[in-house]
Amino acid sequence: MRAQVGIVGAGPAGLMLSHLLHRAGISSIIIEARSRAYCEARIRAGLIEQWAADMLVETGVGARMKRESMVHDGIYIGFNGALHRIDFKKLVGKRVTIYGQQEVVKDLIAKRIADGGQILFDCSDVRVRGFDGKAPKITFRHGGKAEEVDCDFIGGCDGFHGVCRSSIPANAISVYEREYPFGWLGILAEAKPVADELIYAYHQRGFALFSMRSPNLVRYYLQCAPDENPDKWPDHKIWDELETRLGGTKVLSRGPIVEKIVAQMRSFVAEPMRHGRMFLAGDSAHIVPPTGAKGMNLAFADVLVLSRAIAAFYRNGATGLLDSYSDTCLRRVWKAQRFSWWMTRLMHLFPEETPFDRRRQLAELDYLASSEAAAKSLAENYVGLPID
Ligand code: DHB
Repeated sequence: MRAQVGIVGAGPAGLMLSHLLHRAGISSIIIEARSRAYCEARIRAGLIEQWAADMLVETGVGARMKRESMVHDGIYIGFNGALHRIDFKKLVGKRVTIYGQQEVVKDLIAKRIADGGQILFDCSDVRVRGFDGKAPKITFRHGGKAEEVDCDFIGGCDGFHGVCRSSIPANAISVYEREYPFGWLGILAEAKPVADELIYAYHQRGFALFSMRSPNLVRYYLQCAPDENPDKWPDHKIWDELETRLGGTKVLSRGPIVEKIVAQMRSFVAEPMRHGRMFLAGDSAHIVPPTGAKGMNLAFADVLVLSRAIAAFYRNGATGLLDSYSDTCLRRVWKAQRFSWWMTRLMHLFPEETPFDRRRQLAELDYLASSEAAAKSLAENYVGLPID
């Protein structure tokens, strides 16, 4: 098999890269280890920055999102038993779209297939080779046969545990990492939203987040131990704890819990994001803790920059944008890292912190609720920083 770009991974990064390349007249093949059903069911956050929602619509893959999503002009932050609204529209003139990541994945897969794109699911033994030279290739087994894709470039879009980053010699890569001493217990429930916009709540028992997927499907998270066993959380205990941590400001509409997971929290960046003719994008290069929901948005930013660089190369042989890919992405990645870390630190209880730190957190929350300058900084980052 041959394609101009071989892509490993059919998550948001790989699918969007393939879609953007197709629109630029560049061929690609996606190699994915999992099944289509697995990719489409993988539940992640559900918050799309304004530029990214615009890109989905402008590139012809946003029709269902426009129909089914909810557009929010702000968020609430909760502390000391009260809610305070941060109005993004007023502060920075932008909004965010609430739409599940797996819905975006479904829409992108459907669009690639409708456009004649090639996605090979259920591949095993996936390896990337030759990316240091001029003839990279991806080898794998598919349908019981050994196969390979010859390509000019490899898109390493296979996530944190994927083969692309781990195929780079350790001495050619620098890793910056931070783990957090807690996780998130996340639920999806068939119940009515408790508010019209998301609530990020600070409480002495730990952080809680209210989010939603539709007028009848809600998503909540509770700060928990990193190795928390979700089976130790019967439904009534989850609802009671959520109500407590949301500060007694709301009585929750309760309903059947249809999913219960524990998410790990990590900050991670691997530099550089380019190795010869292989380009890492999305979670294969960086992970953010979920507070602020930057993961998919960062993946989209990477592949937008990458697709422009590859298109310039095929247009006139220019390599400048390929050469600057890693630096361009990392400048924005690090700002999103800083924001995700800041929001995580602001909202969670850290076991090593003291009563001084709790007072400091409450002062910072009060500052956000009372200072337009502070609120504007949150808003600017939350709705998404510009793409260079
Ligand atoms: C969601 C997740 C987040 O981490 C966040 O900050 C906002 C929303 C979500 O799953 O809807």
